[in-house]
Amino acid sequence: MTQVNAKASGSFELGGDISIHRLGFGAMRITGAGVWGPPKDRAEALRVLRRLPELGVNFIDTADSYGPAVSEELIREALHPYDGLLIATKGGLVRPGPDHWTMNGRPDYLRQCVHASLKRLGVERIDLWQLHRIDPGVPQREQFEVMREMQREGLIRHAGLSEVSVEEIEAARKVLPIVSVQNRYNLADRDSEDVLDYCEAHGIGFIPWYPLAAGELARPGSKLDAIARRHGADHGQVALAWLLRRSPVMLPIPGTGRLAHLESNVAAAALTLSDEEFEQLERR
Ligand SMILES: NC(=O)c1ccc[n+]([C@@H]2O[C@H](COP(=O)([O-])OP(=O)(O)OC[C@H]3O[C@@H](n4cnc5c(N)ncnc54)[C@H](OP(=O)(O)O)[C@@H]3O)[C@@H](O)[C@H]2O)c1
Repeated sequence: MTQVNAKASGSFELGGDISIHRLGFGAMRITGAGVWGPPKDRAEALRVLRRLPELGVNFIDTADSYGPAVSEELIREALHPYDGLLIATKGGLVRPGPDHWTMNGRPDYLRQCVHASLKRLGVERIDLWQLHRIDPGVPQREQFEVMREMQREGLIRHAGLSEVSVEEIEAARKVLPIVSVQNRYNLADRDSEDVLDYCEAHGIGFIPWYPLAAGELARPGSKLDAIARRHGADHGQVALAWLLRRSPVMLPIPGTGRLAHLESNVAAAALTLSDEEFEQLERR
């Protein structure tokens, strides 16, 4: 039996100087219901995190707002000092309660987010800090400028954006280098196709969130269903294999709080779709 390892997904040089395996892990699901409070099974969440390096997963995505704070705290407890791991976090969202998210892109608040994440993660510099949302209530340029300042001060190494358009990426790149973009993208939702193409053309990592979703494609008897059966795989594994094949800058971050699901997701790194299968799914 082939060993399950994220290495099989290939590598990507983030920002030109951090080498990661393309299949990463999203740490939003190691919190409580509504991405609020501690996870139901804390011991299992810690097991999931500790298993990541053993499975070759060296790229972990989190945010200060997951829990809030809970996800970053668990990551620190399980994995500090992060030998060989890229811990990417985000800031700029505020949590009034379970399932509720609001934006705050005021420069002084973004600074507070970075300082708090540095402290919680126990690092002197955040390797990848992503603006969770551009706050429309604050001039865009002010949000990018504070990111550039924090980069110059050495608080963050690389900067990324989340849920943005091509125009917004271009506006940000006039102020500072952007090494990653995190938008919702999966088999069923390809609204960000233009953003993905832009990222590919400019060597920017594209981090598709909600990568396991397949929508209508997942119904019994569908093309996806047939392909999954042929490979002895589940729908999520085929969805991940399709993403990995779609672009060399694709960095999927499936999330789970369960060890069995983690092992299954990482196994998708070694699942190769034929040209015909890829095209069938590409067409939907
Ligand atoms: N930038 C943004 O605005 C944004 C928004 C949302 C998410 N994200 C990031 O993207 C990551 C992934 O997004 P996501 O969590 O929404 O979507 P996802 O990873 O596609 O799906 C996660 C869901 O699928 C379940 N799951 C995972 N593996 C499974 C498996 N092998 N079999 C069956 N069910 C499985 C999980 O439940 P179990 O825990 O029970 O496995 C969870 O309910 C997050 O962790 C977060 O880091 C970013």
